[in-house]
Amino acid sequence: MATQVEAFYDDFSRRFVEDIVQGNERIAQQLNFFAKAIPSDAQRILVIGSGSGQGAYFIATRVVRSATILAVDISGENLGIARTIFPHPRIEYRKADITTCALAGDWDVIVLPDVYEHIPIEARPTLHSTFNRLLTSRGKILFTVPSPGKQLSLKESGQGLQVIDEIVSLEDLNKVAIDVDGTLTYFSTISVWETNDYIHAVVERGAEYVKPIGESDLLPIKGWPRQSFLARGWNMIGNRFLLFQVLQSWRRKRLRKQLTSDSIRTA
Ligand SMILES: C[S@@+](CC[C@H](N)C(=O)[O-])C[C@H]1O[C@@H](n2cnc3c(N)ncnc32)[C@H](O)[C@@H]1O
Repeated sequence: MATQVEAFYDDFSRRFVEDIVQGNERIAQQLNFFAKAIPSDAQRILVIGSGSGQGAYFIATRVVRSATILAVDISGENLGIARTIFPHPRIEYRKADITTCALAGDWDVIVLPDVYEHIPIEARPTLHSTFNRLLTSRGKILFTVPSPGKQLSLKESGQGLQVIDEIVSLEDLNKVAIDVDGTLTYFSTISVWETNDYIHAVVERGAEYVKPIGESDLLPIKGWPRQSFLARGWNMIGNRFLLFQVLQSWRRKRLRKQLTSDSIRTA
């Protein structure tokens, strides 16, 4: 099964170039969540299912400018993209299947950006013991996942589902909290493309100790700020504007060139 999953995501990796060139609202909201939920004093951050590396790079450059980040992914192609487009001295990109690998270390934050739903239900207990072993005593686990409603609509339409694509409910996330001796301190259903189509959640250890409210307690995000009149106008014109499309096509070509097999970083 692992090779099937790896092959699926090796092939899927082509989509990441478009996400980077055109932008992706799901990822934009995901990064906003990371910026608000990751404590600025986190020293060691583990990103599981790092994909193109965009999220790990964002955390390294915009959220915690001193943290060491390990970003793991099952797909060699994804890691090649990440090492080529989003290299950073504080990020190590490593190939690993999180359901079977023996990762080590103490991690202040474990981030699963649209990954937990791609873990087979039967592998969850093992994954939870991995979390339990790797998370520090005040550590946090951040999840972004499609909502059960989104998954049901994909299942009904038969389109857009990935090789493993499970439903993740409030109860499932609470089970993670129980299994790591933590608390589900944040659970928010957000609307990316349709109403209530994604969930952002935080499982936290040590939440029973109250402390002064800090910068990383800016949650909850209970809605996406409406864009200003000017921003909406700019987006509307920009998407139709020739210069904008020329810029996108230039960026696409530049990324594809970077990713030609002779320049791609395999390790
Ligand atoms: C839906 S993509 C999300 C990618 C990126 N985090 C994002 O938000 O755009 C799921 C990612 O999880 C990775 N993945 C899936 N199963 C995995 C596993 N068992 N171990 C490690 N990575 C896995 C895939 O290779 C892929 O990069």
